[in-house]
Amino acid sequence: MEKPKKVVLAYSGGLDTSVIIRWLIDNYGCEVIAFSADVGQQEDMEEVRKKALATGASKVHIYDLKEEFLRDYCFKALKAQALYEGKYPLGTALNRPIISKYLVEVAEKEGADAVAHGATGKGNDQVRFEVSVMALNPDLKCLAPVREWEFRSREEEIEYAQKHGIPVPVTKDKPYSIDLNIWSISIECGILEDPWEEPPEDAYLITKSPHEAPDEPLYLEIDFEGGEPVSLNGEKMDPVSLMLKLNEVGGQYGVGRVDMVENRLVGIKSREVYEAPGATILYAAHRELEHLCLDRETFRFKEYLAVKYAELVYYGLWFSPLREAMDAFINKTQERLTGTVRVKLYKGQCIPVGRQSPYSLYDYELATYDAADAFEHRAGEGFCKIWGLPLSVVARKK
Ligand code: ARG
Repeated sequence: MEKPKKVVLAYSGGLDTSVIIRWLIDNYGCEVIAFSADVGQQEDMEEVRKKALATGASKVHIYDLKEEFLRDYCFKALKAQALYEGKYPLGTALNRPIISKYLVEVAEKEGADAVAHGATGKGNDQVRFEVSVMALNPDLKCLAPVREWEFRSREEEIEYAQKHGIPVPVTKDKPYSIDLNIWSISIECGILEDPWEEPPEDAYLITKSPHEAPDEPLYLEIDFEGGEPVSLNGEKMDPVSLMLKLNEVGGQYGVGRVDMVENRLVGIKSREVYEAPGATILYAAHRELEHLCLDRETFRFKEYLAVKYAELVYYGLWFSPLREAMDAFINKTQERLTGTVRVKLYKGQCIPVGRQSPYSLYDYELATYDAADAFEHRAGEGFCKIWGLPLSVVARKK
């Protein structure tokens, strides 16, 4: 491979991507530009900038992508009701395509010939970065130094970092690998690698243990317009403020912990712990509104699609024609998904308890067993006869 001359690196400020800056310069003698996105990881981005420059980056680009991330990525997954293997709200998986989008944009602006990321060779994230970059600009080289470099252990990497004056965080007590954004937190490694072990409390960052959650429930009302959340308890909120608030209160009530063994795209099973209080509340409320407002067949068909949608996001195929086509279909189904859902947070659970909408398909006079009943009971007889007809044919033939 021809040596890259100018590389834009997706820089987190952590140990790996800091070592990558040095390593790229040492190995290729190239210029390294750092790109960092604020996606709600609660880090001081000015510190990240300083660290990148101190480590050898020639320039740093920092973008606040929280709102775009929620609107154009997370809310699409929400409208699809996409949960990977029925549980994972996809925070990390949704985050990689937007990082890749701006990584490519910065590379094009800067006239770079390559981009780089800090993902390993056995995870999903390498696939998401590289496939996204290929989909957006197939002429850009995409480097994955962690897959290539000579360090055979964490210790060797730390030694290299220390030799080059890169600060190494003390990780003895908290040996977890954490990927954090405003939609969800992914936690792995350490004791969590034993799927039989219950995750210790210190693995969780933003959720209280349900044992310690308040003894009284908390009720919330969430308004949706066109399938997207727009207000909390009657107060209009932008996506970022809404998520921050839901993460905070949901976390207080112990809502949104997920503990699972999942199938990575590369074929490995891994034990993952997630925290997504806000997303968990939104998924529960949104789904409840769909129960009220979607006709049965659309609701059912969307359920099949949700599985595929989650798979596609997880597999790194965000920038694919199929995802766009599915979004077009899903948006059509959300045109009348406007209304309010009341949920109850209690000891780790988020339970929808009330729902209303101007587009509700719930018809009291059809549903009631009271005097107001307007259903034509006699029609039931013919319905049963026709519905059961094929089975009666089978029975007679036997
Ligand atoms: N298993 C999750 C995914 O593939 C999270 C991966 C990143 N996790 C981490 N702790 N760095 O989307």
